[in-house]
Amino acid sequence: MLNPFSKVDISFDDFRQSAKKRLPKLLFEYIDGAASDSSGEIDNRELIRKLRLKTKALINVEDRSLNHKVFRIPSKLPVGIAPMGMVQMAGVGADEALAKYAAKYEIPVGVSTAASMSLEKYAEYSRGYAWFQLYYMADHVELEKLLNRILKAGYKTLVFTIDVPEVGFRPNEIKNGLTMPFKLGPRQIFDFAIHPSWSLKTLLHGAPKFGNFSDTNSFNRNASRAGADWEFLKYLRDHWPNNLVIKGVLNTEDAKNMKGIGVDGIYVSSHGGRQLASAPHPIEMLPKIRKALGNDVQIFYDSGLRSGEDLVKAYALGANFAFMGRPWSMAYAANNRHGIDNYIKYLCKETSVAMAMIGRRNIEEICFDDIFWN
Ligand SMILES: Cc1cc2nc3c(=O)[nH]c(=O)nc-3n(C[C@H](O)[C@H](O)[C@H](O)COP(=O)(O)O)c2cc1C
Repeated sequence: MLNPFSKVDISFDDFRQSAKKRLPKLLFEYIDGAASDSSGEIDNRELIRKLRLKTKALINVEDRSLNHKVFRIPSKLPVGIAPMGMVQMAGVGADEALAKYAAKYEIPVGVSTAASMSLEKYAEYSRGYAWFQLYYMADHVELEKLLNRILKAGYKTLVFTIDVPEVGFRPNEIKNGLTMPFKLGPRQIFDFAIHPSWSLKTLLHGAPKFGNFSDTNSFNRNASRAGADWEFLKYLRDHWPNNLVIKGVLNTEDAKNMKGIGVDGIYVSSHGGRQLASAPHPIEMLPKIRKALGNDVQIFYDSGLRSGEDLVKAYALGANFAFMGRPWSMAYAANNRHGIDNYIKYLCKETSVAMAMIGRRNIEEICFDDIFWN
C-alpha cells in the first residue's frame, strides 16, 4: 500500500536529494560534481533559468505531442540520454535500465567508452538506439579495431567527444580519493559502510567496472587525450561510414570547420560544466552556433537541462535534439527504474504544459520567436 507519508520526488532537486541520501558521498559527488569552483555549471543553469518563454493566448493547442525525430528516426520523447562513464555507480543495473528505457521510448542512449556495460549489450538492450561515444585514441590500430567492433554491433552513430584534452580539474574527486577501479582506504570503507542500501547490493553484484575492456589496464580514464587534432578528425571522418557527431563544441569557428569536414552533427555541450569552469556558457553558444551553421546540420544540446521548461528553451534556441546527463543518474540512484519513470513522467507533463502556454503543438513548431533573454 502507498505510504501516505512517503516523500514524492517530482523535480530534479527532489531526485538529487534522494540520491544524495542513498549514495556514498564519493559516488554522489562524482556524478554531481563539476570543474574547479563549479561556477561554469551553476552560472549556465542560472542563465537557463532566467530565459523567458513568450506566452501566446487563444491558440487551439488541444492536440499536443512530445514525439520528435533524431536523424529522421522517430522518438517518443524529446530528450535523450547523454553518454556517461560508469553509470553503474548510480546503482546496480543502471546501464541495462537506461538501455531498455532508450528502446522503450525510441530515444538515443549514449554509450561512453568508459561505460560500465559493454557496447554489445547496450546495442542489444537498446534495440539499436545506442550511440557510441568515442574518446581520442592515439593508436590507430587499436582505434580501427574498436571502430570495427562498434560497426559490427550495429551502431549507426558515433559521437566523438572533443572537450577532454585532459580530464577536468574536479576538486571533489581529489578530496574523496576517487580512483577507477576503486581503491579502498579507511575513508572510502567508512563512506560505503554508512550507505548500506547501495553498498550491499553492489557487494553482491560486484564493483562497477569498465564494460568495454576485459583488461582493466587497457583503459585509463585519466589518460591525456591532448594529441587530438584536426587531422585526427579528418581521419575519423574517413574511417567512420555512418553518422559522426562531435560533442563538446562551444566555438562557432570550430563548428563551421567541422561542418566543412563533413560531420553530421554538432553537439553543443560543456560536459555539464565538468571540464572548464570558465568555458563559454553552452546555452549562450547554442543560438550562435545555430546561426553560424544554418539549418542543414543537426545540432544537439546538453548541459544544465533539468525540467520540461528547460527542454522547450533548448529547442527554442535551435537544438534539433536535447540530451540530459545527471538527471538520469540521479533518478536511478534515488529509486531505480521507478525513479526514472517518475522523473520522466513529470518532465513530460511540464514540457507539454509549457508548449500549451506558448501555443505550440509539437517540438518542430518551437522556434526562436518563442524565447527571449530576460
Ligand atoms: C557522471 C558523468 C559521467 C560522464 N561521462 C562522460 C563520458 O564518459 N563521455 C562524455 O562524452 N561525456 C560524459 N559526461 C558528460 C555528459 O555526456 C553530458 O555532457 C553532461 O552530463 C550534460 O550535463 P547535465 O549533466 O547537466 O545534463 C559525463 C557526465 C556525468 C555527470
